[in-house]
Amino acid sequence: MKTKLYSPNTSSLAYPVGTTLDRFIKLKQEEFQFASGELSQLLRDIALAAKIVNRETNRAGLANIGGAFGQTNVQGEEQQKLDVIANIRFTRALTKGGEVCAIVSEEDDEVIDLQNGSGKYVVAIDPLDGSSNIDVNISIGTIFSIYRRVTPIGSPIQPEDIMQPGNQQVAAGYVLYGSSTMLVYTTGHGVNGFTYEPSLGEFFLSHQNMVAPSDGNIYSVNEGSYYQFEAGLQEYIEHCKAKFYSARYIGSLVADFHRNLLKGGIYIYPATQKSPNGKLRLLYEANALSFIAEQAGGKATDGHGRILDIQPTALHQRTPLFIGSKNMVDEAGNFLKKNATTVARKGVLVQ
Ligand code: F6P
Repeated sequence: MKTKLYSPNTSSLAYPVGTTLDRFIKLKQEEFQFASGELSQLLRDIALAAKIVNRETNRAGLANIGGAFGQTNVQGEEQQKLDVIANIRFTRALTKGGEVCAIVSEEDDEVIDLQNGSGKYVVAIDPLDGSSNIDVNISIGTIFSIYRRVTPIGSPIQPEDIMQPGNQQVAAGYVLYGSSTMLVYTTGHGVNGFTYEPSLGEFFLSHQNMVAPSDGNIYSVNEGSYYQFEAGLQEYIEHCKAKFYSARYIGSLVADFHRNLLKGGIYIYPATQKSPNGKLRLLYEANALSFIAEQAGGKATDGHGRILDIQPTALHQRTPLFIGSKNMVDEAGNFLKKNATTVARKGVLVQ
């Protein structure tokens, strides 16, 4: 029998489609210290739910699933129909997979105990972030954090399984439903991004080893609240303007974070007079993005200390967030520090 060795076809007609998310997760499984395949499966479950939510998001204008659901969530925010759909999709995927014992979701007041005797992992998730942007066709996202439970597998879930600081995350990621849909995640060994190919129904590796530029010239903050910011932050914003930085603020955390991660910049959601602890949630927004930022060489603080070292005390706890390029986060922190003697952190300045 005649055989010939396989040689890849390099013709541009037969361009390679690349590495699928599934294959990448499998290849990287060994890097994970507890590699038993469950975390890999969990990431696949999340990717599957993301594909479904992506489909729903894309037809939101057609299928009468846009607009308000008619209820408010625990944050007092009006739930959109897609918030509810996304919450159901992710919860279902995480329940069916069997690797998870408990879920903390922005959309649920309490911890969802899956009563899964073999589940090792706790997931904190914002199923659809920036959902007020759905009806105006602007990018939205999903944010997730994964922790190992600390009490014995099979025993009832305890508060210490849930209330873990961000430095205990074993994986975290986000999905950006934008001009294309991307899934970006880390397991603590760098950050990789995958772009969804809708005709094949697969995420493909498109952004390998993402690195946040250490400096940048984009600042992202809701400047409409400027007069509610503390003096140090107001001065930092003036500094950004004096340096002719670009102001870019979509109002969708994932989209603003993603742009700054690629291009270099800082995203700030500070303490304001209205919200003395900021607006963003520690467990399912700030922690995941902070883990990713640090893994990409960036930085994340609450203006003073490292986000990942905050010990949570409440499920839906809020935190100010300064995140992005390392030097910019440091510089913003220095402006806050300089003014700390004249303006108390939570005694926000109003002029
Ligand atoms: O999760 C809350 C969120 O929707 C973020 O996605 C976004 O960055 C922020 O709120 C926008 O808040 P504001 O409208 O106060 O600027």
